[in-house]
Amino acid sequence: MIKTMTARVAAVAGMLALSAMGMSAPVSAQEEFDVNKVFWCDAGTKTGEQTEAECIASREAILGQCTVCHAITPIVKAQKDKKGWVAFMQTHKTRTPDIADDVYSGMTTFLQGHYNPQNPVPKLPPELDALGVPPA
Ligand code: HEC
Repeated sequence: MIKTMTARVAAVAGMLALSAMGMSAPVSAQEEFDVNKVFWCDAGTKTGEQTEAECIASREAILGQCTVCHAITPIVKAQKDKKGWVAFMQTHKTRTPDIADDVYSGMTTFLQGHYNPQNPVPKLPPELDALGVPPA
């Protein structure tokens, strides 16, 4: 899996992690990626059943551990309902067996609260938007 990831995807993932830590991270000269628009956690915004602190912890975990094989693109575009995320994460656990159960369930709650049929798909810079998933 890791071999299939291009250097550019790796670079984007790394910059997203930086961006999540509050550092400025230009994806390219033209595009600035604002992590708070795609992975919002600010108090007062709709973050499902999570507090701001829980949301931030899950965001860091997803950015750090779910971008090893693919970009954030398929994740933030998924728009699954609550049951859909639970079912998906149960099968996807085989891809990430080392994530602790409580962290993993926080990720699931985060995904349910952000990428669902009620919320519009977040706008991504074109070079991120174009990325898909590795072959199964
Ligand atoms: C070891 C590699 C690997 C890791 C780590 C990984 N994925 Fe994936 N992911 C894949 C592959 C391969 C696919 C293509 C579909 C499949 O085979 O499951 C995929 C597809 C997806 C999709 C699109 C498929 C769909 O039904 O919507 C989503 C969403 C997704 N992954 C989310 C995640 C999340 C969330 C995490 C972190 C918990 C994660 N992935 C970690 C390998 C990985």
